[in-house]
Amino acid sequence: MSAIRILPELLVSQIAAGEVVERPASVLKELLENSLDAGAAAITVTLEEGGIRRVQVEDDGEGIARDDLPLALARHATSKIETLADLEGVASMGFRGEALASVASVARLTIASRSDASPHGFAIRAEGAWIGEVTPAARERGTTVSVEDLYFNTPARRKFLRTEATEFGHCEAVFRRIALARPEIAFTLRHNGRISSHLRAQPLGDRAAAVLGREFLHASLPLEAQAGTLRLHGLAGSPAPARARADTQYFFVNGRFVRDRVLAHAAREAYAQLLHGERQPAYLLHLEIDPRGVDVNVHPAKTEVRFRDSRSVHQFVLGALRRAVSPSAAQSPVAYAAIAPSGAAGPALQPALGLAQPAAAYQAFMAGAAQPAVPLPSAEQAPPLGFALAQLHGVYILAQNEAGLVLVDMHAAHERIVMERLRADLEDGCVQRQALLVPAVFRVDTLDVATAEENRATLEQLGIEFTVAGPNELAVRAAPALLASGDLAALVREVLAELREFGAAQALAARRDALLAGMACHAAVRANRLLTVTEMNALLREMEVTERSGSCNHGRPTWYQLTLADLDKLFLRGR
Ligand SMILES: Nc1ncnc2c1ncn2[C@@H]1O[C@H](COP(=O)(O)OP(=O)(O)OP(=O)(O)O)[C@@H](O)[C@H]1O
Ligand SMILES: [Mg+2]
Repeated sequence: MSAIRILPELLVSQIAAGEVVERPASVLKELLENSLDAGAAAITVTLEEGGIRRVQVEDDGEGIARDDLPLALARHATSKIETLADLEGVASMGFRGEALASVASVARLTIASRSDASPHGFAIRAEGAWIGEVTPAARERGTTVSVEDLYFNTPARRKFLRTEATEFGHCEAVFRRIALARPEIAFTLRHNGRISSHLRAQPLGDRAAAVLGREFLHASLPLEAQAGTLRLHGLAGSPAPARARADTQYFFVNGRFVRDRVLAHAAREAYAQLLHGERQPAYLLHLEIDPRGVDVNVHPAKTEVRFRDSRSVHQFVLGALRRAVSPSAAQSPVAYAAIAPSGAAGPALQPALGLAQPAAAYQAFMAGAAQPAVPLPSAEQAPPLGFALAQLHGVYILAQNEAGLVLVDMHAAHERIVMERLRADLEDGCVQRQALLVPAVFRVDTLDVATAEENRATLEQLGIEFTVAGPNELAVRAAPALLASGDLAALVREVLAELREFGAAQALAARRDALLAGMACHAAVRANRLLTVTEMNALLREMEVTERSGSCNHGRPTWYQLTLADLDKLFLRGR
């Protein structure tokens, strides 16, 4: 082995660059973060050839003083922290004092900057190990950093760069994240001389629509929650339009885009009961936390964080998100029906309906719902899901509320209501039973009889009481009160199949929701059953007080709002 040597400064920087400067997109991220730290209000990004030829970021931030320019390029030189205590409570994006030095070691870099104190600007150039003199430059307040020919001096790394289109794609992703992190800043993105994105300073909802598309905004619910020093806000995608790919999941911690297991897990759990199969929720969430409660110095790229109290953070995010995406319909805004856009951009964030009316406002009506012939009160005083108008083809309920027309899939909605009641019952001990006047006797196979006898206690907990009427016959004497009028034979067979396959313990724990959903299926109002207006109203009122009633047990939506504006659009009215 040869003797130990101290590595030359350039090589040290190039090694460090390996960690932070993976591709043009990582250069872009570092430059953008510096502009954010400088307090910029407007930032322009210029890329050439996917950023391989040039990445340039121009801002109107506080600028760099003349004498600090060479320092900005030096390793371990930063204006952002001084002490360990600063590091532990760091609120800026940067703090390592390393990014520009690393970038300069593997590219040609120019900084032109002007601070408030200076009568004009100054510029400096660096290329590999070489750093030029500071020269005067004409410019406004702010900084422009230009990085050209990435990896010009490290051909081995240059080989790893992909096509221009791929590298541009990565740059766009970085741009998108930062734009979503800071909607109050204006951003422009230019590629090969063409403007590919222009965003003015705007509220988060508008920024989300501009960056992620209007569909995302319309299919998401605003969220705002606070507990102690923790605050979570942003947009949580409603379960219905969830997609198969996890490509719209943005978590920011104190304005920094992160990929974090604790947060991702909380989100998965919040959506767990609402999403069907492998579908992925979409969300854009900002978590604000005392900087001392989170360590961002985990990896040089800073996309990982470590929470001091990850349990509390998990609980808080889970709770806030759950409330936002699975509220009873009475508190939730509406999953707007997607109406084909007719040319001009629609309004920004559709105003939330005045749905947060106190329960008392329609409780009185609920009592009245038991009596026949309810007159249709005016839409203004209508409860959130409105008053029933009619039933369509035995499948949908049409109702009128303040905003317009509500369409309810009555079977899906009823199923959800029954399921939530069964769940609540079970959590209180056991499902409420109703004794049957005439026992329901039906044939089963011998294995079913054995399973039933073995699991008598569990079945009773689920509201089913039976006697064995013969080697192939069960007589059900009591059934879950909510299901007693349904198809009991099918219900019992299904429960027995579940018990046989998974065992009682599993069925009541991990499989519980699936089991209850299966049971609820047998009770629910079947399509083609005619409901009276009173029954329809009763169903609407129950939806309003039922948790997660916005989607059925299979994750499909149970109702849609069509606003008057939506209808006007359909008929091209008012234009
Ligand atoms: N756009 C800018 N506007 C004003 N000052 C800047 C800008 N870019 C860089 N600087 C100055 O140059 C210094 C070095 O930047 P660099 O990105 O290398 O390190 P850092 O941001 O402090 O830490 P990190 O390595 O974590 O990014 C910064 O501390 C800052 O003082
Ligand atoms: Mg930096």
